[in-house]
Amino acid sequence: MSSSRRNTSRCPVTDPRGTTTIGSLDPLPTQGIRGGFAENGLPLARLADGLVGSVIDSSTSLLAGIEHDVVRFAMGAPAPEAIPVQALRELAGGALDAGSFTYGASEGEPGLLAAIADGYADTRGTSAERVVITSGGMQGLDLACKLFIDPGDLVVVESPTYTNGSATALSYGAELLEIPIDDSGMVIDELVEQVAASGRTPKLIYTICNFQNPSGVTLSAERRQRLLELAHRWGAVILDDDPYGLLRFVGDDLPGFAELSPGDPHVFSVRTFSKVLAPGLRVGWVDADHRLRPLLISAKQAMDTCTNVPNQHLIDGFLRGGGLQEHLTGLRDTYRLRRDALLRSLAAHLGDRVRSTVPEGGMFCWVTLLGDGAVSAHELFEVALGRGVAFIPGPALSPSGRFGDALRICYATEDPGRIDVGVRRLAAALDELEAR
Ligand SMILES: Cc1ncc(COP(=O)(O)O)c(C=O)c1O
Repeated sequence: MSSSRRNTSRCPVTDPRGTTTIGSLDPLPTQGIRGGFAENGLPLARLADGLVGSVIDSSTSLLAGIEHDVVRFAMGAPAPEAIPVQALRELAGGALDAGSFTYGASEGEPGLLAAIADGYADTRGTSAERVVITSGGMQGLDLACKLFIDPGDLVVVESPTYTNGSATALSYGAELLEIPIDDSGMVIDELVEQVAASGRTPKLIYTICNFQNPSGVTLSAERRQRLLELAHRWGAVILDDDPYGLLRFVGDDLPGFAELSPGDPHVFSVRTFSKVLAPGLRVGWVDADHRLRPLLISAKQAMDTCTNVPNQHLIDGFLRGGGLQEHLTGLRDTYRLRRDALLRSLAAHLGDRVRSTVPEGGMFCWVTLLGDGAVSAHELFEVALGRGVAFIPGPALSPSGRFGDALRICYATEDPGRIDVGVRRLAAALDELEAR
């Protein structure tokens, strides 16, 4: 995968009510902000300077403010019709009582903890003393970084990666080592070389092993094994972020890190209900060595006291009612059809002007613009948005702004007809730029 540096202009805008909102896909300006605050007598912390936000998340606000029709390839969100709204509504009547609306246990509601431990949420069982419920996968990533990263520590990330995750590591002062990926995930030989060249050993290895966000590729079984061996050699922790693993629609599941190395303290797994149920619920969990649990609970108590209690009760009811398996079957069928539709439309309307990964599950294709590099993903975004299609430009998925020639396309949100409309609009935007 090729890369290029990114040129960003930053423009939060002020809406008529006087609040600053997100008016472009560029990161909010925080670099050097500390000096300005200091002049006004506000003692911002060193780590607050240059806090990295999420271009992916900003796309939600940006698109919400747009009035013309836009085909949504940007956010990694389940299709609205793929959220079991009716089932959740019906459950709410029985699952919620007064106990649902007060503070809950920091580690999570006992019913949901037990449901996860009993394997209702996953194909693989765990045990309740390894699990802490979190506010989505993001809080799991934050907890891992809080526990393992000291300022200056080396953290390995995939390149490209889910930059909300790398931003979390940066917010704790990590230094990142960006390791390229290919169709079998992180290139382990490159990892070994880069680590040797750095003269240091990493503390944390952040990997999204199944249907990676943003590329859609899956880490091969052999590379999983090698990563485990390296983690042991370096005394590092594998931050195993797997929101999409249950969404495989082609081929067979590969063994996860916890299956390859049961009970391994070097594996810290982050899970979420966001992609298999509904992201707005904001419920996920971490599955980690039981000795970390007191630390996880204490860290969480200092963050948010407890996770959304009604939503945990709802999810508990949904899982125990056996709803998840049936729901997953429907999601896998839907997303397979949508992936196929996207690949078909790309071939029909963009042909050899682009190359796409071919994911076996999950929500994303990583599409590279071929040709002479004259058109950047950023320019294409501006024109494409005007023509009614949105995606995430590659540099937003790279902490150092690489991949100026790539687009992340989420095929999960729109149906095949709309996917075709979106790709036609993309092709028209590319024509327009190339004609300039
Ligand atoms: C790889 C990855 N990790 C974590 C998350 C965050 O999940 P949640 O919305 O549950 O916080 C996402 C969401 O897009 C993701 O793609």
